[in-house]
Amino acid sequence: MLYRSLIRPLLFRMDPERAHHLALTALRWAGRPPLGPLLSLLFEKRVPADPVELWGMTFRNRVGLAAGFDKEARVVPALERLGFGFLEVGAISSEARPGNPRPRIFRLPEDRGLINRMGLPNAGAEETARRLADLRPRVPVFANIVKTADLEGSLDEMAEDYEKTLRVLFPHVSGFTVNISCPASPELRDFGGEEAMARLLGGLGALRDRLAREQSARFKPLILKVSPDVDERERAVIVEAAQSGLLDGLVLTNTTTRRPDALKASAAVTGERGGLSGAPLFPIALEQVRWFAEKLEGRVPIIGVGGIDSPEKAHRMREAGADLIEIFTGFIYEGPSLIRTLAR
Ligand SMILES: Cc1cc2nc3c(=O)[nH]c(=O)nc-3n(C[C@H](O)[C@H](O)[C@H](O)COP(=O)(O)O)c2cc1C
Repeated sequence: MLYRSLIRPLLFRMDPERAHHLALTALRWAGRPPLGPLLSLLFEKRVPADPVELWGMTFRNRVGLAAGFDKEARVVPALERLGFGFLEVGAISSEARPGNPRPRIFRLPEDRGLINRMGLPNAGAEETARRLADLRPRVPVFANIVKTADLEGSLDEMAEDYEKTLRVLFPHVSGFTVNISCPASPELRDFGGEEAMARLLGGLGALRDRLAREQSARFKPLILKVSPDVDERERAVIVEAAQSGLLDGLVLTNTTTRRPDALKASAAVTGERGGLSGAPLFPIALEQVRWFAEKLEGRVPIIGVGGIDSPEKAHRMREAGADLIEIFTGFIYEGPSLIRTLAR
């Protein structure tokens, strides 16, 4: 209530990226003593427990935070205290990425959406690994990993860049979401082909297995984050990869470059380049979850994400075949009480 009547109006008066930084600063403070326990009391303790086992780990509820909100794992303690069942931090690349020039996030309040072309800015794997090493998360934390921005090279070089990130982060996270699907970073699309997918996921999987043996670590799933704009051929490649054991799960979906006809925002905003998220993405993400769930018949778990902002949409996502769900834009519009509402 307080969020929608007071905090959101204040934040929405600011430039979206400044508002995001302010929210992160507030969460950094709110996550630690003396405020931390209060945050738990107000939010975490009121989220009903609904434990589910997946990939050999326990999720206290099925509602997670999607990638891109906490890009450098700066506010993990606060996010746990808000009641999330799991978190995705990142995207993280082996070397730092500056991202695109600002402005690079745009609000579509009439549509309850966002358009962003952040370009995956982040401090790089080493710095984020150091931060994660100081934490003892109580919920599964997955690292969303991407390629370093200006790396142009052979398929092997690009795959090795992802591998370096996985190696650095391995001891500190519960698993990995492999991001090959950011619309504002077209270089990531190089991995849509069969050979490229096998090289990337095969290399990451072999490294993951080796590190798990060396470090006596438990199983850490490799989950592929997929664009909602994949074509038939790319869908077939992903199905093949899942069926042959190259990946352990799917996150469906990332943002879309499409602009559905029903958008109410002005053409000046909808014409901004970048990926659309929030309510207008929901039908697209839902269709994608349903399609993959039917093809894969439960062979790999699916995390459904895209425009979920109400229990009804969460329910439809689950019915379509999502084992877990994630939120980002809905969290911005509805605030932290959405976690509890959805978990219920
Ligand atoms: C500002 C912003 C930054 C994002 N950054 C990332 C990212 O770094 N990696 C990624 O895989 N997805 C990223 N996403 C996509 C979200 O994780 C999610 O897939 C998408 O926004 C759809 O969910 P939603 O409609 O609930 O926002 C980003 C989304 C937004 C709005």
